Amino acid sequence: MSARSGLLLLIDDEEKILKTLGRALREAGHDVVATADIVQARGVLRDRAVDILLVDHLMPEMSGIDFIRDYLATTPAEERAQVLMMTAHATVSNAIEAMKLGAFDYLQKPFEIDELLLIVDRALELQRLRTDRRYLLSERDERFDSYGIVGDSAAIRKIMREAEIVAGTKSTVLIMGETGTGKELVARAIHARSAQRDRPLIKVNCAAIPETLLESELFGHVRGAFTGASSTKKGKFSLANGSTILLDEIGMMAPLLQSKLLRVLQEREVEPLGSHRTERVDVRVIAATNRDLRQLVDQGVFQEDLFYRLHVIPLAIPPLRDRREDIPLLVDHFVQKHAQRVGRRIEGVHEGVLRLLTQWDWPGNVRELENVLERAVVLAEGATIREPDVSLGRPAAAATGQLPSLKLRANVEWVERETMRRALESARGVKKDAAEIMGISQRALSYYLAKYTDD
Ligand SMILES: Nc1ncnc2c1ncn2[C@@H]1O[C@H](COP(=O)(O)OP(=O)(O)OP(=O)(O)O)[C@@H](O)[C@H]1O
Ligand SMILES: [Mg+2]
Repeated sequence: MSARSGLLLLIDDEEKILKTLGRALREAGHDVVATADIVQARGVLRDRAVDILLVDHLMPEMSGIDFIRDYLATTPAEERAQVLMMTAHATVSNAIEAMKLGAFDYLQKPFEIDELLLIVDRALELQRLRTDRRYLLSERDERFDSYGIVGDSAAIRKIMREAEIVAGTKSTVLIMGETGTGKELVARAIHARSAQRDRPLIKVNCAAIPETLLESELFGHVRGAFTGASSTKKGKFSLANGSTILLDEIGMMAPLLQSKLLRVLQEREVEPLGSHRTERVDVRVIAATNRDLRQLVDQGVFQEDLFYRLHVIPLAIPPLRDRREDIPLLVDHFVQKHAQRVGRRIEGVHEGVLRLLTQWDWPGNVRELENVLERAVVLAEGATIREPDVSLGRPAAAATGQLPSLKLRANVEWVERETMRRALESARGVKKDAAEIMGISQRALSYYLAKYTDD
């Protein structure tokens, strides 16, 4: 079953476990050294290129966590094996500490051999990718750009590189960043480069769905499971079987559901509401959040265990104001994109405008920048976007939840009215075409018409 094989070092004080696990791993094609002797284990780690270190939490001479701490502290990151810890239920906190130190994952006893093989396979995949990293770094050029990620800052390059590396794995990815920084875009890019790219990415917005419905949305339900459940419905996890699930705004998930999600991630099986049968699912999980999950953990509103389950490969996208060198590239990109969409020829933005855009703080990040440019493209009278075409402030207010100042609001209204007037003009009064030029629905256009015609 295992696609990869590697050298595993298994350390446990129980002869029986060493034997059984050793046999199972060898049958799966791995090379295994199994020992209860710490000194021997250290010798193997020193002399051979061990891919995976599988450690029991209890050992005769020293505890597993101490061994792991010592190993990670004394071995340079590029030379390390992936560390897996085996633990009993009562000592999960040890395992969490191991993950904080840099272990790859943990297995809670009792576990199935299949689960072990699966985790070993994932760890080997990551290990192999790490070895290939240098090669990948030199190979990477513009490939990711085809998925629409624009930017040349060190931060964006790093994210593209990491995204590309994890695309080849099934590891859980946690994407963090303020609103509008491109979390979904990065999630889609990862899926699009993964082996599962032919299947759709399944997205669930954990904040938009009421808690009571979210559980059935995620895990499904059978007929009669609750009032109104008139038919059996598959959950998003089942739909994502063999593909990727994007759990958006994971920080907003209610505590009870967090526990259920944790169990699904640990056991890789779901139990639809009202059903007593579980269903195995093979799903790559990408979680996204604009909240600081660590802080939520500290505040006690986000489960620590779940955090570490999700925090396997963290990707943090910095706010746009911390990578202003990306702004000119993004400006070009969006101006061309929207000019093309509305069928206009626009060469670019006036120098003063670029200065303005590079200085703005962009609380709504890239989304805000795109909105501003989309309007500007429609408003521009000539082939260059000038200052009066640009209005800053509205998405900023939306992002921070504050009301815009009166002056800004007046500005926005002026822009809306102007945009509409010009769109109608170039569409010679045909509303359908005007709506298209503005990139909004006909219904939205009617709304604006009603809003502005009587004043
Ligand atoms: N680096 C980028 N290059 C090109 N387009 C980008 C980039 N970053 C974001 N965008 C665009 O900005 C918009 C917002 O991005 P996205 O929806 O991925 O943000 P998000 O982080 O998921 O936001 P939210 O937290 O509000 O859900 C999208 O239209 C996306 O295509
Ligand atoms: Mg999003």
